[in-house]
Amino acid sequence: MAFTRGKRIAITGANSGIGFETARQLAADGSEIIMICRNRERGTDAMARIRKELPDASLALFTADMASSSSIQQLAAELHQQYNDIGILINNAGGMFYDAMTTDDGLEYTFGLNHMGYFRLTRALLPLLEAGRPSRIINVSSEAHRTAKLNFSDLQNQKKKYRAFSVYSQSKLANLLFTRELAKRTEEKGIETAALHPGFVNTNFGSLTDSRFSTKAFKALANTFGITPEQGAATTVYLAQTEKLTNGAYYAKSTLRTPSKAAQDGEVARRLWEISESLA
Ligand SMILES: NC(=O)c1ccc[n+]([C@@H]2O[C@H](COP(=O)([O-])OP(=O)(O)OC[C@H]3O[C@@H](n4cnc5c(N)ncnc54)[C@H](OP(=O)(O)O)[C@@H]3O)[C@@H](O)[C@H]2O)c1
Repeated sequence: MAFTRGKRIAITGANSGIGFETARQLAADGSEIIMICRNRERGTDAMARIRKELPDASLALFTADMASSSSIQQLAAELHQQYNDIGILINNAGGMFYDAMTTDDGLEYTFGLNHMGYFRLTRALLPLLEAGRPSRIINVSSEAHRTAKLNFSDLQNQKKKYRAFSVYSQSKLANLLFTRELAKRTEEKGIETAALHPGFVNTNFGSLTDSRFSTKAFKALANTFGITPEQGAATTVYLAQTEKLTNGAYYAKSTLRTPSKAAQDGEVARRLWEISESLA
């Protein structure tokens, strides 16, 4: 029997790309889906697209800016008020940004969204996940993590020239270190955690509305070589459904994959957790 059976599943970034397809496929499988989207209009549109195909789908929409601490707090309060438990949390919302930006609370934006968004929401929802045990947290990471090392003396990239891919890779390495430490900390609570690489997927990822060469080139590459969002959601859906998950592990193409050496450093994972806690 699939692990998803009877589980309520929360998915961030559920209106587009991999998150939308994950929501659609898990709804088709009969799960109750909490779609967490940044924008109400885009979320409503995504929900309508799923409902058109699956009129009986069990869907709820919540909005939050995952780069904002106060917005995540508000979302968590609403979810705690609405539900007694959550069985699966899929941290998926993220992106790569061509210009240096900061979050409301002054963090480098990519780190603030891609890592702290996962960290903050997970932490805030742990009581609901504990109530839904056996439960699961799935973190969408990336093979891009392989080029990265965490520089604790400059986590917010203030001392270096801003390079989009470099800060993105670090945030995806942070996803793996977070997964590793989270798995250790929540195992006894009946919560399992895993991370994944979805493949190179043709989504809105990396594409902005501007016309600069780098965004156009990225989109052209994704159009030519990227897999479809439907294919890109396969490993996330697999991790939600499989009966047997290796706690703290990294997956790609629905099988275990060894992450970079930097992602296997338990001491770095512990230190990142402590820093994230102080930032949260
Ligand atoms: N595409 C790839 O090749 C690839 C490869 C490896 C890993 N990934 C990872 O896959 C995940 C999903 O990306 P995707 O490819 O599906 O891209 P996408 O189509 O751009 O979807 C990203 C989702 O995240 C949401 N999001 C972005 N910023 C947000 C914020 N501040 N608050 C709340 N939601 C926010 C987006 O909402 P809006 O629609 O409102 O912007 C959208 O729903 C990301 O974590 C990415 O790092 C993607």
